[in-house]
Amino acid sequence: MSYKKYQTKYSNQFPAIEDLAKEAKKRMPHVSWEYLESGTGDEALLERNRLAFQNIQFTPRFCNGHLEAAINTVLFDKHYPCPIGIAPVGLTGLIWPEAELVLARASNRLQIPFCLSTVATETPERVGPLVGQQGWFQLYPPKSLDLAFALLDRAKQSGFHTLVVTADVPMASRRERTKRAGMRMPPKLTPGLIWDGIKHPFWTYHTLRRGLPRLRTVQDYAQQTDFKFVSGFVGNRLGGTLDWDYCKVLKAYWDGPVVIKGILHPKDADKAIEVGMDGIWISNHGGRQFNGAPASIEVLSDISSIVAKQVPIVFDSGVRTGLDIMRALYLGADFVMLGRPFLYGVTALGRYGPDHVIHILSDDLKNNMVQLGVSSIEALKSLS
Ligand SMILES: Cc1cc2nc3c(=O)[nH]c(=O)nc-3n(C[C@H](O)[C@H](O)[C@H](O)COP(=O)(O)O)c2cc1C
Repeated sequence: MSYKKYQTKYSNQFPAIEDLAKEAKKRMPHVSWEYLESGTGDEALLERNRLAFQNIQFTPRFCNGHLEAAINTVLFDKHYPCPIGIAPVGLTGLIWPEAELVLARASNRLQIPFCLSTVATETPERVGPLVGQQGWFQLYPPKSLDLAFALLDRAKQSGFHTLVVTADVPMASRRERTKRAGMRMPPKLTPGLIWDGIKHPFWTYHTLRRGLPRLRTVQDYAQQTDFKFVSGFVGNRLGGTLDWDYCKVLKAYWDGPVVIKGILHPKDADKAIEVGMDGIWISNHGGRQFNGAPASIEVLSDISSIVAKQVPIVFDSGVRTGLDIMRALYLGADFVMLGRPFLYGVTALGRYGPDHVIHILSDDLKNNMVQLGVSSIEALKSLS
């Protein structure tokens, strides 16, 4: 059996990412949904991330005869069928049990990158064999370099070839919405949570089968410290430490491309290239970190001018359609990643959810390219 068998059915039932989101919301507990969806503060940046795309319009050209759009591309010398990949999402098992395993298998099947988070609920050792050649590993830089090297060694030995260093978490953000929903680390079994679980028996059954979501990659290190909970260890020992010298150390240690994630300022992009980063990942963390930041799409053009094709630009935050991807490519992105939409897909449809997300986005991207009158990503970029 393959996704092809379901494609027409799914395309009629779930023609857009928002349809998958609606279905996913029904299938997961409230606390999981709030964790996945939340921004921070009054969450204005979530809305801005979406609205800002609408300010980028194109005037189409017609009478081009028959056009077919090719969306295959190359990044870090690897060929991809489309410029789309899966961004790192931590505590994924809270959203859907074993979601990382589903995503890893799908990325291997679809030949698109999958970035595993440091604070994933599955380990690099478990995910690596499933993800094949498509594994990227995301690092929240630990205060201890020994710990950083230990994590990188594990990722490398498990087959991950591209390192992503997240820069945009100088400290944990407040995420008031998740607190209102009753989210606590470690999870606390309150009557509300138990009731939520009873209302979502499929989620609950599989969560109990796998065991409550735990930060399995880092929990062993946490146990060697005097932190009572892994969450305390993560808050105190991971992040809040990155500087440009640390980036240089990581670059020297990792023999593969190193991408810095969360860049929004052109001067940071410039500096990142100076210290040897192989790629710039423009992101505002899906609106979850600094509510006062601009939408990623708003800074893309300025950063693209500074980067001037010296290194590839990866882009995310708020992408929900193929048209959004076209806008990002046009403004200078080389590759576009998405976080939440792939989790909607997994939760709504299970193992073929990611295939359907890619189908929706690729089909919409091709459609919009032909509407505009371009047949390749190079042609699209040359319009700008
Ligand atoms: C629930 C959730 C958890 C996330 N966890 C991480 C993480 O562990 N590391 C990281 O670098 N980014 C993390 N991100 C940010 C994503 O990698 C990505 O930048 C963001 O989701 C893109 O926005 P989108 O969800 O609108 O596509 C997380 C995002 C979400 C929604």
